[in-house]
Amino acid sequence: MCFLPTAKTILKEQAVADKQCWHIGNFAPISVEQANFFTEKLLYWNEHQNKREMPWKGISDPYKIWLSEIILQQTRVAQGLPYYQKFATAFPDIHALANASQDEVMTLWQGLGYYSRARNLHATAQYISRELGGVFPNTYVQIRQLTGVGDYTAAAIASFAYNLPHAVLDGNVFRVLARYFGIEQATDETATRKHFATLAQQLLPPTKAGKYNQAIMDFGAEVCTPALPDCANCVLQTQCTAFAAQKVNELPIKSKKIKIKHRYFVFLYLHNEAQFFIEKRTEADIWQNLYQLPLIEVKNAKMFENINPLLQQNWGVETTNLQLSKVFVQQLTHQKIHAVFAEAFMKKELNTLTIPATWLLIFKKNYINFAFPKLINLFLSNIALTST
Ligand code: ADE
Ligand code: SF4
Repeated sequence: MCFLPTAKTILKEQAVADKQCWHIGNFAPISVEQANFFTEKLLYWNEHQNKREMPWKGISDPYKIWLSEIILQQTRVAQGLPYYQKFATAFPDIHALANASQDEVMTLWQGLGYYSRARNLHATAQYISRELGGVFPNTYVQIRQLTGVGDYTAAAIASFAYNLPHAVLDGNVFRVLARYFGIEQATDETATRKHFATLAQQLLPPTKAGKYNQAIMDFGAEVCTPALPDCANCVLQTQCTAFAAQKVNELPIKSKKIKIKHRYFVFLYLHNEAQFFIEKRTEADIWQNLYQLPLIEVKNAKMFENINPLLQQNWGVETTNLQLSKVFVQQLTHQKIHAVFAEAFMKKELNTLTIPATWLLIFKKNYINFAFPKLINLFLSNIALTST
């Protein structure tokens, strides 16, 4: 057992006791016994009870591991799996991915969100294929330097591909550690995160880094879940601080709430029987390099009520048969997008209109060749574009 900081003890005894404890930042002392139990049981659980099968488990091809980890950033395994299969099939090695066009990559990525991941994936493949002769970096530092690879992804790749001793740290890990060790410091504060990193690194068995990292990821996703964790069947339960103190639902603690920004988009669906206009999003903003219908961003939802003058002012589009859609909403991590679609059917040839240089005229039957944000796909699929 550990001596808590408030415990009044004879110095000599304290010294002996402290060997059995880790003192990390302002965390309450962590008993080495409790820590060893954690690592041991987690590995045991992974070996015998972890049912999660994934196509990249047991492989050591760093390209495939990197691909899977980029896809799984901010994405649940169930959602990411089919994308991994598509990419691994279309691009079996780094050169194949490097030689693909950006539109091919974006189209395959469509629907996964966080599109900067797809751009970075492609750029990094080109870098490794062309600058490094296709040889994937094999040290943590070099892996971490790749564009699109942060601490978590670097630790995952380094440990899965090369069994290098780097502990992963993400929301799952914070939650499992905070509960098991009863850590009450807020996990969204920089200082606390550093202490979590130290603890996570201490817990990692140096020769079983890959297995341990996979174990803690899967354990956080399958057993010690955010809501309704399966404490009754948990291999850590007998030593779990939160369980003993009935604080499972209170941990981990967060101090701040994320502030959500609301944005209001008016999209123009200007079409005739066969064709309509789109444009590419080139700005450093959400959905960069995806296609969209021509867009006007407005300040608030009230402006959805008077669309005609907007279209007139922005593009000189004048129409008497404008149809306004319902409001579509898409929740992103830090933004909530409210969008309406203004539909105008034109009887004439669209290529005779005077339009902004950024607009592209495409055939309805070809729209699936362009990568659109989910919201736009929803609208386009609702109006059954494939008919012509
Ligand atoms: N999330 C990110 N990488 C993962 C992996 N390799 N297994 C399960 N979940 C993950
Ligand atoms: Fe998580 Fe419950 Fe297991 Fe503790 S007992 S580690 S809270 S699942």
